[in-house]
Amino acid sequence: MTSYTLRSASPAKTRSDAVVVGVVQTDQGVELAPGGEDVAKAYGRKLRPLLASLGVSGKAGESVKVPTSGAITSPLLLLVGLGRAVEPDAVRRAAGTAARSLTNAASVALALPAGTPELVRAVTEGWALGGYTFTTYKKQQDAKKEEQEAPGEVVVLSPAARKKDAVAGFEEARIVADAVAATRDWVNTPAGDLRPPMFADAVAAAGKALGKGRGAPKVSVTIHDEASLVELGCGGILGVGQGSDAPPRLVELVYAPRGAKAHLALVGKGITFDSGGLSIKPAQNMHEMKSDMAGAAAVVQATFAIAALGLPIKVSTFAPMAENMVSGSATRPGDVLRMYGGKTVEVWNTDAEGRLVLADALGRAVEQSPDVVLDVATLTGAMVVALGDQVAGVMGADDVVERVVAASRTAGEAHWPMPIPEEMHDRITSSKVADLAQHDWTRWGGGLFAAAFLREFTGGLPWAHLDIAGPSFNSGGPRGHVTSGGTGFAVATLVEFAREMSGR
Ligand code: BES
Ligand code: MN
Ligand code: ZN
Repeated sequence: MTSYTLRSASPAKTRSDAVVVGVVQTDQGVELAPGGEDVAKAYGRKLRPLLASLGVSGKAGESVKVPTSGAITSPLLLLVGLGRAVEPDAVRRAAGTAARSLTNAASVALALPAGTPELVRAVTEGWALGGYTFTTYKKQQDAKKEEQEAPGEVVVLSPAARKKDAVAGFEEARIVADAVAATRDWVNTPAGDLRPPMFADAVAAAGKALGKGRGAPKVSVTIHDEASLVELGCGGILGVGQGSDAPPRLVELVYAPRGAKAHLALVGKGITFDSGGLSIKPAQNMHEMKSDMAGAAAVVQATFAIAALGLPIKVSTFAPMAENMVSGSATRPGDVLRMYGGKTVEVWNTDAEGRLVLADALGRAVEQSPDVVLDVATLTGAMVVALGDQVAGVMGADDVVERVVAASRTAGEAHWPMPIPEEMHDRITSSKVADLAQHDWTRWGGGLFAAAFLREFTGGLPWAHLDIAGPSFNSGGPRGHVTSGGTGFAVATLVEFAREMSGR
């Protein structure tokens, strides 16, 4: 376990095993970034030649270790590149890179730019997330070693350490980072060990753990099992789940603090494994479809984080969980499902399962008459083709989309608005046998088609849909604070959105 403290102190005099300082690129060459002034002073005129001989470029992603030989109190200096701009996104990334470079120090002082609450938050969050590891399935010695290697004591140095809003940024960073890490854990867990009933139980257990202790925030967790889903008429969740011998679930969370200023509903896609069903996927990357529950994990953990922060906003959260499998009992293309609320849907492609489970959950959500509904889903490959694997697409009511994009900027996650063109309406109503077509004859605009389909279940409420198929899972190596595998994407944006809605 790592302990974090926020302090105002000179990095040249701290007794930590290592001190982290940023390097920026300027027109005059490389320089130590704000936060590193005292270290620059301690080195004096020796700094420039030192940086030059080490070949320090200040590029984002760079990290260079320097033995200090008494120049400052700490024996080790780690220089991390910030690129040209000293801004929260660059600082968050650099802090993440630093966390992975310093695994043999017991104590670390972070002297990165931290003069504002946003920067304090970026340093703390970046460090906590960049050092994330998933060792559950590693040899026991290896897992232990990785744990021991993480520094026990992290001091975030900031000239604003005694200011209230800097302390708030520091605390928010730790709560959000914990929620992101918990989301990553769920996404990284093999699908065979997180089937719908287990996932639902894990959410209930996490909710219970959160509510322990006096004055602790309360989040109520209700699990609908298959019998209850039949009773409710959740034909989408049941239809997608019927090919698996692990039955589906719908998990509903409520956080209702006294004095709530607004009501937010969150809906997250929880396909614990997406084989594609009878419209089966190619083998190549199918193993990554254990991440198809990243939306559900994100909305659940964001709800817990909002509660832990004590934000004065009611949050109702809906996580439909099913395993999309191939079997004699699986839904067939051509089958018609009756969704919660009564609309019928003709299934064309069993691999477009996300919209089916979301339809039921959205129907449940809008019944509560929330002020805003946000759904988060690893919904379409088309969105990954459009925006790449680091940017989420946001569609829905213009003003809600705008607010999501604004919140995501503060949170340090990339979201981009996408349209729901007029012609999609004709496409989603093109079924000859049911009210709606789940898919049609072309894959062009697949991400937009899916959004138009979901809109049919939002009851005209202010709504936005976040398609996180790309950024929810990092198939490559770590970059900055984003580690390999599950990324926990959308948690920070949702918390920020809720914070703004709550007026805090
Ligand atoms: N879970 C996938 C979408 C996905 C693709 C997530 C790549 C992450 C990475 C979704 O259920 C799916 O299979 N969508 C299909 C829909 C199509 C059949 C209309 C797709 O996008 O190909
Ligand atoms: Mn699918
Ligand atoms: Zn899917």
